[in-house]
Amino acid sequence: MRPQTREDSVVISRIVLSMVVLGVAMAAGAVNLTDKQRAEVEARIKPFGEVCLQGDTTCGGPAAAAEDAVARSGEDVYNAACLACHASGAAGAPVVGDVEAWADRIAKGMDVLYDAGVNGIAGTGMIAKGGCMDCSDDEVIAAVDYMVENSR
Ligand code: HEC
Repeated sequence: MRPQTREDSVVISRIVLSMVVLGVAMAAGAVNLTDKQRAEVEARIKPFGEVCLQGDTTCGGPAAAAEDAVARSGEDVYNAACLACHASGAAGAPVVGDVEAWADRIAKGMDVLYDAGVNGIAGTGMIAKGGCMDCSDDEVIAAVDYMVENSR
């Protein structure tokens, strides 16, 4: 092996320099993505499912808001929250469709029935809103209307 000349070290430093330049160029190229590529990468590294905290309007918003905005029909509320007792007579509930069982109640006037639906009847199985605490007063009232209409 011949001793290293000045020429040799210039060549070596050129090689090293070009490798560094190449490396930098590659690194730069790696982050130089098109918007489409960036979106694809982001989609790939995205976590499965995202946590949406209650009250955060930037996520889960449209669906949740739409649900709040559109009141459920009396029938929907009845099926979800009242049917459990009022279809079977559980806990002594007047059965929807049993005209006799409802006649005296209807005679008390709708306001009394609405009040019973929204606030419950103390000391009975009729708890406030039938236990549907995410039902609005109007939704419960619609459910009372639905029950009465089907029990006359
Ligand atoms: C856990 C059982 C239960 C559920 C659920 C329930 N009710 Fe009742 N409800 C009763 C019982 C028991 C009575 C009879 C109370 C009494 O007069 O002794 C009653 C009575 C009523 C009456 C008649 C009140 C009156 O003044 O005569 C209305 C109206 C009524 N319920 C509406 C509803 C509505 C609307 C829902 C759903 C949002 C609902 N109930 C869910 C048990 C229930």
